[in-house]
Amino acid sequence: MNPEQLRQIDNNSVWHPFTAMASYRDEHAPIIANADGFHLIDTAGRRYLDGHSSLWCNIHGHRVPEIDTAIREQLNQVAHSTLLGLSNVPSIELADELVRRAPNGLTKVFYADCGAAGVEVALKMAYQYYQQRESHPESRNKFIYFDGAYHGDTIGTMSIGSISRFKNLFAPLLFPAVWSSTPAAAPGDPDRERERLVHWTQQLEQLLTEHRGQIAGVVIEPLVQAAAGIKIQASGFLQRVRELTRQHDVLLIADEIAVGFGRTEKLFACEHENVSPDILILSKGLTGGYLPLAATLVTDEIYNAFLGEPWEGKTFYHGHTYTGNPLACAAALASLKLIDTNDVLANSRELDVTIRSGLNPFRGNAGVREIRQRGVMVGIELAKGDQSFSPELRVGHQVTLTCRDRGVILRNIGDVIVLMPAPAMPIELATVLCHVVCDSVLDVLGRNL
Ligand SMILES: Cc1ncc(COP(=O)(O)O)c(C=O)c1O
Repeated sequence: MNPEQLRQIDNNSVWHPFTAMASYRDEHAPIIANADGFHLIDTAGRRYLDGHSSLWCNIHGHRVPEIDTAIREQLNQVAHSTLLGLSNVPSIELADELVRRAPNGLTKVFYADCGAAGVEVALKMAYQYYQQRESHPESRNKFIYFDGAYHGDTIGTMSIGSISRFKNLFAPLLFPAVWSSTPAAAPGDPDRERERLVHWTQQLEQLLTEHRGQIAGVVIEPLVQAAAGIKIQASGFLQRVRELTRQHDVLLIADEIAVGFGRTEKLFACEHENVSPDILILSKGLTGGYLPLAATLVTDEIYNAFLGEPWEGKTFYHGHTYTGNPLACAAALASLKLIDTNDVLANSRELDVTIRSGLNPFRGNAGVREIRQRGVMVGIELAKGDQSFSPELRVGHQVTLTCRDRGVILRNIGDVIVLMPAPAMPIELATVLCHVVCDSVLDVLGRNL
């Protein structure tokens, strides 16, 4: 098909996720045909720097020889075989690698095929665990989630999500969950940050007391809430949540779908606060951003509660057709190896510094409310002084389109411009990314302030 035919069919037949279709059809979005390292190439041959890691999942760039080869070699063996009552070689090898690298105590791996499915697995496991555990079995049907939380778009994950634009319409379909506030970091003001931390952890403690014996899990995105607009938590919050969940005998469920695999400069964000959750969910960067896969890791204690004779009904009756897909597991194994051999975490630390200084040109600008950064996760919040821009202006979207005209692909969340380069992106490309973003933001603000 030629590019014009592709455009016509895209407009006529493809319904894009999280996309306002009426305006999308007039915007002539690039149709990606190819890639080269950290660039995506469209059907017209235009090159775009992938500034958001193809929606926060790419780790090493595109068409990485080692990952391509691993997938091809696996293709020569078998593309897919189920994990329901059978096993396959790459899913076993990957489980071994994940257990070895994960925070202490996470010894069992359950596979799914996208982030939201991995979180659903965690919720169902937690719920069933309390009913079946040996000491004090009880029915607990509540989860605590945090202000700004996003864990996916399925009914269960929306129930523990807090972004009203995504969930309010569906409220009658969702299960009730308990909302708790999140203490935001206050860079440069440690007293204020500590005050927030104390105040909001007290609130969490109150909730745990109030709902004693009913809470099956506290679900948290460690350190950074990405979909909330790169909201960074007060330092020490994760650790306090861990302490409180232990004291109150409640499972801590860490969703590292966005923050895992080097985005915060460690393999897992939990490592920054020496936290071992009871359940850890991984996806996105797990395969280096190549293929869909999720892994929900749990402790022996949880796993053991599901053991019993088949007729006892303790089995975890959950699974997906492509659970533990061998191609995806082979990609994940190759990606983990590359994180080590290329010292991607060191690169990620350098990127942090480069981006921090690369964004200096508009620090203090009247149209920039805040720049939030943790590792290679960056949110630039635009506003008109104290006021937000009128939503009809779509200021964030204008920036995305301007960047695209200048050869950089990004995605905004409302008026927050999100930069999420691959943790292995070369430093000089991150410098280009910052230049383009700065120029584009300043141009768009010039038209709208
Ligand atoms: C923290 C977090 N959890 C869950 C998800 C859902 O993952 P998926 O889109 O693969 O279902 C996302 C997606 O952005 C996420 O950022």
